[in-house]
Amino acid sequence: MKNNRIAVMASGKGTNLRVILQAIEQGTCPATVACVICNKEDAAALSIARQAGVPHVFFLNPKDYDNRKDFDEACAKVIQEAGCHWVVLAGYMRILSAEFIQNFPNRIVNIHPSLLPAFIGADAVGAALEHGVKVTGCTVHLVNEDLDGGPILAQTSVEVFDDDNWHTLHQRIQVEEHRLFPETIARLLTTDFTIDGRCIIW
Ligand code: GRF
Repeated sequence: MKNNRIAVMASGKGTNLRVILQAIEQGTCPATVACVICNKEDAAALSIARQAGVPHVFFLNPKDYDNRKDFDEACAKVIQEAGCHWVVLAGYMRILSAEFIQNFPNRIVNIHPSLLPAFIGADAVGAALEHGVKVTGCTVHLVNEDLDGGPILAQTSVEVFDDDNWHTLHQRIQVEEHRLFPETIARLLTTDFTIDGRCIIW
């Protein structure tokens, strides 16, 4: 049995955190969310975590630290003290320092709202609309030091409609995210994989 304790880092409304907690509750994802860290005080993810009874829930304010490295070090400490093996980024809107990533090699998982490698960066939905693609989607990937560039664990496509705006498209992408993310975390915790170049072989 793999170590199934995960820490979730989030900055926003926390719908991905919510579905992960629901999947655990329903028995379809054999994880334990032992720690949730938010870098925004008003992030809904904080109340979702508290309501669900996550034992270690923290708002850490980046402004209280001199630099990114120190802030990330504080996050890593909290995660390690909570005994977490995996770090799940669920709408975490900060770039992680190399030092943080090296603390959890191939154990940090992110969800990104596009079919990577298309549209890396903070506004993948806007970039897809602007580019005029007819298909976009979401990607769950391991995090390395390249922005949105780690090995891909799973992807799902979403059609772009002519009358889509940012919200309608993001909403349909999130429907897929909410299925794909807990499913992929479950797979990570139950299935061994190797990494060949940048390809995940389950
Ligand atoms: C998602 O669209 C995810 O792909 C991106 O940030 C968003 C987070 O949504 N990285 P939520 O806070 O989980 O609702």
